[in-house]
Amino acid sequence: MLPKINTLSGYLYEYQKSVANPEAFWENIAENFYWHKKWDKVLEWDRDGHNVQWFVNGKLNITENIFEKNLFILGDKPAIIWEPNNPDEPTVTLTYKQLHEKVCQFANVLLQNGVKKGDRVCIYLPMVPEAAIAMLACARVGAIHSVVFAGFSASSLADRINDAEVKIVLTSDGNFRGAKSIPVKAVVDEALESCPLVEKVIVLKRTSIEVTMKPGRDIWWHDAIRGVSTENKAQEMDSEDMLFILYTSGSTGKPKGVVHTTGGYMVYTAYSFANVFQYNINDIYFCTADVGWITGHSYIVYGPLLNGATAVMFEGVPNHPGVDRFWQIIEKHKVTHFYTAPTAIRSLMGYGTEPIERHNLSSLKVLGSVGEPINEEAWHWYHTHVGKGNCPIVDTWWQTETGGIMISPIAGVTPTKPAYATLPLPGVQVIIVDNEGNELKGNNVEGNLCIKFPWPSMIRTTYGDHERCVNTYFSSFKGLYFTGDGVKRDADGYYRILGRVDDVINVSGHRLGTAEVENAINSHPLVIESAVVGFPHEVKGQGIYAYVVLDAASKNHDPEKIKASLLAAATKVIGPIAKPDKIQLVTGLPKTRSGKIMRRILRKIAEGDATSLGDTSTLLDPGVVKEIIEGALVPV
Ligand code: WTA
Repeated sequence: MLPKINTLSGYLYEYQKSVANPEAFWENIAENFYWHKKWDKVLEWDRDGHNVQWFVNGKLNITENIFEKNLFILGDKPAIIWEPNNPDEPTVTLTYKQLHEKVCQFANVLLQNGVKKGDRVCIYLPMVPEAAIAMLACARVGAIHSVVFAGFSASSLADRINDAEVKIVLTSDGNFRGAKSIPVKAVVDEALESCPLVEKVIVLKRTSIEVTMKPGRDIWWHDAIRGVSTENKAQEMDSEDMLFILYTSGSTGKPKGVVHTTGGYMVYTAYSFANVFQYNINDIYFCTADVGWITGHSYIVYGPLLNGATAVMFEGVPNHPGVDRFWQIIEKHKVTHFYTAPTAIRSLMGYGTEPIERHNLSSLKVLGSVGEPINEEAWHWYHTHVGKGNCPIVDTWWQTETGGIMISPIAGVTPTKPAYATLPLPGVQVIIVDNEGNELKGNNVEGNLCIKFPWPSMIRTTYGDHERCVNTYFSSFKGLYFTGDGVKRDADGYYRILGRVDDVINVSGHRLGTAEVENAINSHPLVIESAVVGFPHEVKGQGIYAYVVLDAASKNHDPEKIKASLLAAATKVIGPIAKPDKIQLVTGLPKTRSGKIMRRILRKIAEGDATSLGDTSTLLDPGVVKEIIEGALVPV
């Protein structure tokens, strides 16, 4: 269906074309979709204000490009194969026809509950087919979905609901994850105490735990859909109408609502999925991400379904009921494409190869990695033991803000190199700059990773605050989109991502702003201030190291109890992913004379390297550093 690159020279040719004339390149791809009305102009771009529009005045509905366009041929093909947490529970398969009916039916439910084009709908659901149905139903009626990862706390959820002025929330009673059953509705109830605009909550029954249903506000999903028509005419959308908001962490304390729009996101996610994975129509694709993150949006839901792919969606965790759960799913569904995160690979490596050898993984053709740099050891293990040396690994670098994969091998086409994301996809114009913004040309250079020309699925704005978007992404280096990542271009011109250069840490592939974690810790009554940095962690990639200064009143408390309550505070304010791995109680933080915390020093100490602390002469109190080194929770 979509044009696919199948040789290295083909890649080079397409890449050249995409740089020489990006508009013509993307127009050619966009022609493959179903538009009510085609665009007047491919790209409108005001570089300084970051106002970018793709396929200007084009009219479409993204769900028609998943369903109506394909149903005739693909109607009976499985769209989603859902694998429950408990392997003894039956798998649910939804064909394109069945998924279409469920999406249309739920679209009608949204309309009946007063949802109109442009309204924001919050989806706080576990990994069940209804999460995808809910997203697509929003897109069907033109509502903007804001999916919040169901592991976030009530207060994080409330912040996201209020920022987007959401009026309807879709959730479940509970959530099965491994051996645990997690109350979900109770979290929503707590969040909604501070969300006055929410009028309706639709609750899916999943775990059957007891929940309180607020009369007039809360409705059961099964009651809401009963007797509702499975036919729905899609709302016509403009290319630049918002498709969704997805909150992500940045260097400041407040998560940003990254906005993606309809036309460009559709074209880019579909094109990148088809090409990076080299998906063929009978393949079975399994991405282990959660729909609460961008990977779930672009490469479980939109990208695969726009290509008529069959996607496996998994509710559970890799180590339940056994550490061979992924391998068992691959065998059971004859998965051909497996896309996961380095943190999962590293944790499974710890159990050796025996759990893999118990299963027949011969269906596998392509392996993918996403979310954080993959270290060479994990790359080799993945390649040798999971892929038996026969499957190319696509190490895909991208971000919530980029909407789709940006730098990655094309499976079977680009020669791979362990730990390298290799080369940019067509349309992606990478530039490396030093801290002053000077371009670092040629090979063997290292610096800040920027993109110099728009691509269709790039961030349009941060919800409700365009200036913040411009300041965060387009102001560090004039005229360039700054990713926040450091990168190296080696002698072959291949790219290796070096990790974040800002105050964002990547814990098990989850982005966290250090300021957010500090805010959570500082909410504890005994805390005066804190500083949070990342440190290398064998399984998680980065762990969270918190330096905490306590109030004098803390003398009357057991320090271990205080640490435990700090962990509880991080869980309560953000969620379990924000729990520090190490907490060091200190009497002060290293600060400059102007009061700025010298994070560079704290980062070095957390890494176990006190030999190269750099210039500490500007410190207000150099004695603090000595004390911190002596009490460090790592050998320094
Ligand atoms: C990191 C996830 C190295 C990077 C899709 C980026 C990676 C951040 C890779 C975005 C990769 C993602 N190699 N680092 N293949 N993929 N990252 O928004 O630091 O959750 O800026 O999007 O993850 O995280 P986000």
